[in-house]
Amino acid sequence: MERGGDVAEMKEWCRSIPKIELHAHLNGCIRDSTLLELAKVLGEKGIINFADVEHVIRKCGRSLSECFQLFDLFHILATDHGTISRITKEVVEDFAADEVVYLELRTTPKNNETKGMTKRSYMKAVIDGLRSVDALNVSFSNSSERTENISSSTQNNYANCMERKTIHIRLLLSIDRRETTIAAMETVCLALELREFGVVGIDLSGNPIVGEWKTFLPALKYAKEQGLSVTLHCGEVSNKKEIQEMLDFVPERIGHACFLDKDDWEKARVLQIPVEICLTSNLRTERLSTIDLHHFANLHKGNHPLVLCTDDTGLFSTTLSNEYYLAAATFGLDQKDVLRLATNAIEFVFGGSEVKKALRGIFGDSARKLAEVFPSWKSLGGEDVKVQIKSLR
Ligand code: IMP
Ligand code: ZN
Repeated sequence: MERGGDVAEMKEWCRSIPKIELHAHLNGCIRDSTLLELAKVLGEKGIINFADVEHVIRKCGRSLSECFQLFDLFHILATDHGTISRITKEVVEDFAADEVVYLELRTTPKNNETKGMTKRSYMKAVIDGLRSVDALNVSFSNSSERTENISSSTQNNYANCMERKTIHIRLLLSIDRRETTIAAMETVCLALELREFGVVGIDLSGNPIVGEWKTFLPALKYAKEQGLSVTLHCGEVSNKKEIQEMLDFVPERIGHACFLDKDDWEKARVLQIPVEICLTSNLRTERLSTIDLHHFANLHKGNHPLVLCTDDTGLFSTTLSNEYYLAAATFGLDQKDVLRLATNAIEFVFGGSEVKKALRGIFGDSARKLAEVFPSWKSLGGEDVKVQIKSLR
């Protein structure tokens, strides 16, 4: 099927290489087991009817309407600070277990007066969740590259700490398309306030048929002026006018881009706007009928800047390794192509030059280590592969 190894080896390759995740929604990445446990409690409290959601949670390969059913459930779960911290911790652990070395996690700060939750307290719960990860070194500070969550006992045992996996994390705050201009502006102001806790940018997401571009534009413009990076869910549905307006805004990345016309792609090409590609998500949400028709093929062939992402690991029952394998198996990529894709993602992170430098080191080291483990990689000249880090923008 693919050059440079059989199916099992390619799967293992995709799992083993270091990876960068740039498009993952916190609540969309909740573990099924956690979702089941929390939904059961909500059912016992009479807040939801557990029987209505149990079969959807237990199902692999959910339909579009079942995905939206789970989004509604996420919003009920997201009203408890402790739950938010727990979900954050588990999501970070899951990405690290999949050899993700840099994670840009996005989430929509939520207000819920009756539960005493503000957008700020919601984000504090997320940051507390990052701090509570004890099995990994979590580096999420923008201002320094020190490791944030090393406990004092671990600091006493520096050697032990160095042996543990490290994951670099940055946060993006999402504006939900249901929000008003004022609410969107609040989210941007909160992002600016939380920069020292690793918040580096703003995302626009939510139901793509809800809301208008002009509602969000003032907040997005302000974010840009203040030096935050902006990524937009763009062209998830066919909406020519909005796609043009979004591209004219020149975001630093766009997500999905399923319904761009030829002239839109030309604009994206001239502006060299990197595209966050979410293959399984696009398939599940019926943005295309079969995976081999995905625009990944043309973009990859045309060397357009792109990065493979998961969107919602929990919702779509996927992992980043799985997305790389899917791309390799569908579009005939070999091990070198896959590693090159993973490495190129360094250029598109919002985390700044220091973290990019650290990532180049990680990818350089791993190319050498992988050659020891994968015989076919060795035969492809893997040992000599200098990880190509070109500046695309
Ligand atoms: P949260 O922001 O952490 O609560 O993550 C879940 C939210 O992400 C959902 O309620 C949506 O607003 C957004 N989201 C997740 N997946 C998609 C997608 O495929 N398209 C648009 N928005 C999405
Ligand atoms: Zn998304």
